[in-house]
Amino acid sequence: MILPVTTYGMPILRKKASEIKPGDFQLDELIENMYETMYQSSGVGLAAPQVNLSSQLFIIDADPFTEYYKEAKGFKQEFINPKIIERSGKKWSFNEGCLSIPKINEDVIRLSNVKIQYYDKNFTFHENEYDGILARVIQHEYDHLQGILFIDHLSSIRKTLLKKKLNDIIKGNVKVDYKILSAKNKYRK
Ligand code: CO
Repeated sequence: MILPVTTYGMPILRKKASEIKPGDFQLDELIENMYETMYQSSGVGLAAPQVNLSSQLFIIDADPFTEYYKEAKGFKQEFINPKIIERSGKKWSFNEGCLSIPKINEDVIRLSNVKIQYYDKNFTFHENEYDGILARVIQHEYDHLQGILFIDHLSSIRKTLLKKKLNDIIKGNVKVDYKILSAKNKYRK
């Protein structure tokens, strides 16, 4: 089932997500729905707050990056209750976008390597290290669970320049070819 994607201005995107306990949800079904939603909107990652659920879960399918980043090949993974325990390596800039902030793409500087602990959908614990595009996508999605968006990493000048576009998203004045859940209702009389 395709779920609507929450967009900038929705308070849930600014909340710290809660930990998931085994049995909290029909996890398999939720994850399936999230993949379906992500593929339909051509995303490479999706976090639960983006489908209006304030829980510590994100999914990634980095395969579309394979042409330029070999580490992305066949990488498909769910991360439950993740904790980044180390960020290292060099700073690098990459042009990011987000399904919750449609039509805005900006260069974001992040570190190249992460070490992350997480559970898979069977609640098996993992600790892995990632670099390159995988570390990039993981950090972007992990931010969502802390209520952080990629635009928060921009300079105040860049943010000021984006103000109008962001206000349009808040008001639902943005055209996308996937279902969204915007904050516009707050602005109706
Ligand atoms: Co995002």
